[in-house]
Amino acid sequence: MVEPVDAIRAIHNAFRNDLEHIDAAALDSARGKEGLAATVERFRFFNEALVWHAHGEELAIFPVLENVAPLVAEAYVKDHRGLDAAFDELSKSYASHDPLTTARATAAFRFHLNIHLDKEDTHLYRIFTERVSLPEQGKAVGIMSSTVPQERFPEMVAWMFPLMGQDDRENMTRIWQMVMPAPAFAGAKELIKGAVGSDWAELTHRIPTL
Ligand SMILES: [Fe+2]
Repeated sequence: MVEPVDAIRAIHNAFRNDLEHIDAAALDSARGKEGLAATVERFRFFNEALVWHAHGEELAIFPVLENVAPLVAEAYVKDHRGLDAAFDELSKSYASHDPLTTARATAAFRFHLNIHLDKEDTHLYRIFTERVSLPEQGKAVGIMSSTVPQERFPEMVAWMFPLMGQDDRENMTRIWQMVMPAPAFAGAKELIKGAVGSDWAELTHRIPTL
């Protein structure tokens, strides 16, 4: 049975996956390999999505958590500001056309992101699922998803779905199917179909109602 928090875990995995590729490309560039600019430059959209996500957590998840586990979320807000600083450092390094400092910046960003997401998955969201009722969890995740600007939603789907494994794609699709009004889900479905290409057959096999 899919739960609202599965959508958050799925997007966390997309973040990990994207930054791993960006960091690997930055390292190869620093070693002199050509043709990796497009992969390294994914850091721009990656960070836009990360900021929407962090704002969503701060708006919808952390206040709910504060009621059931005071002072826990505070440490995670500090982590988020650390991610902002990691992005600023990376942006600055990339703009100065310095492949070595760029690779150092992507490595630092990746390291901090991975620690942060692992803490959220195993600590913060564990408390959230154990102490917040399922309807409240659903409501919070719904508010959270509203932080993606509507006109950017197609880009978000095109970015996220190729980065996710089959289980995460299935979970995210099932959750959207449950929470979105039918016409909105019909639009999302087309975007997912475009994003996953030939894997669409696997998704419709897993979710026959698609
Ligand atoms: Fe977070």
